[in-house]
Amino acid sequence: MNPNKALWEKGDFTCIAETMRESGEAFVDTLGITKGLKVLDLGCGDGTTAIPAAERGADVVGVDIASNLVAAGNKRAAALGLDNCKFQEGDASDMHGVRDQSFDLVVSVFGAMFAPRPFDVAKEMVRVTRPGGRIVMGNWIPNDPTLVAQILKISSTFTPPPLEGFVSPMTWGVETNVTERFVAAGVPAEKVSCVRDTFNFNYSGPPAALLDRFKSYYGPTMNAFEAADQGGRVADLQRQLEDLFSAQNKSSRPDLTSIQVTFLRVTVAL
Ligand SMILES: C[S@@+](CC[C@H](N)C(=O)[O-])C[C@H]1O[C@@H](n2cnc3c(N)ncnc32)[C@H](O)[C@@H]1O
Repeated sequence: MNPNKALWEKGDFTCIAETMRESGEAFVDTLGITKGLKVLDLGCGDGTTAIPAAERGADVVGVDIASNLVAAGNKRAAALGLDNCKFQEGDASDMHGVRDQSFDLVVSVFGAMFAPRPFDVAKEMVRVTRPGGRIVMGNWIPNDPTLVAQILKISSTFTPPPLEGFVSPMTWGVETNVTERFVAAGVPAEKVSCVRDTFNFNYSGPPAALLDRFKSYYGPTMNAFEAADQGGRVADLQRQLEDLFSAQNKSSRPDLTSIQVTFLRVTVAL
């Protein structure tokens, strides 16, 4: 089994994505979607960006490695009557079957960054975008003090070291790496721009309950708890993550959690 696919099929990312819908909509509102624009959402999950893009009139294909998320995306699109939004299984590192230059806009929000072989990912994104089109990525930033980078950082201290040759997904949050990867795919460096942006996680429950969701449904956190269990360190991991979720929460209401997270927004103009 492909470990990348296994990681994301292990949990149920829809339970996390539900807390990210508002920012997904807001992000799509910045993309200049017009009717009939051909959009590929790569690492689309169950459609946090694909569905709002289709609702704004784009013809959207969502590609994701996890079959459960592809099924969840197609179910959401059908329930909303969106016949301009299709989800299919595929790998951002090798999108065979997706035609060259077939999209006006390729978007990937915390998606393609998790695929192996980042240079192949950049090459594939460039290949399927038409000349004059755009690629827009949202990538978590290594060592950023906000939630997701800190979850992954804490988790890494409980899990075995990665195999030799493994390239951390977080390297997609470093501007020099991003530029190097697109330049290797044939894009002039001045066509790549990066800015910091924010995404919100909004959950109707206290921070500890949101952590429970990550524990039960977010593959990387599930793996961290399994590894911590083997090392007899579950209580330590639980305490560190509880402190993190509670420190990051900006809601003053006990029944709501609202966490603002920083990410690197990458735009590539082809
Ligand atoms: C953090 S989730 C983000 C999902 C979605 N973009 C969102 O914002 O809700 C990461 C997604 O990337 C997908 N993914 C991971 N590796 C992938 C790969 N090699 N090719 C395509 N999708 C991949 C996962 O299955 C998962 O749906």
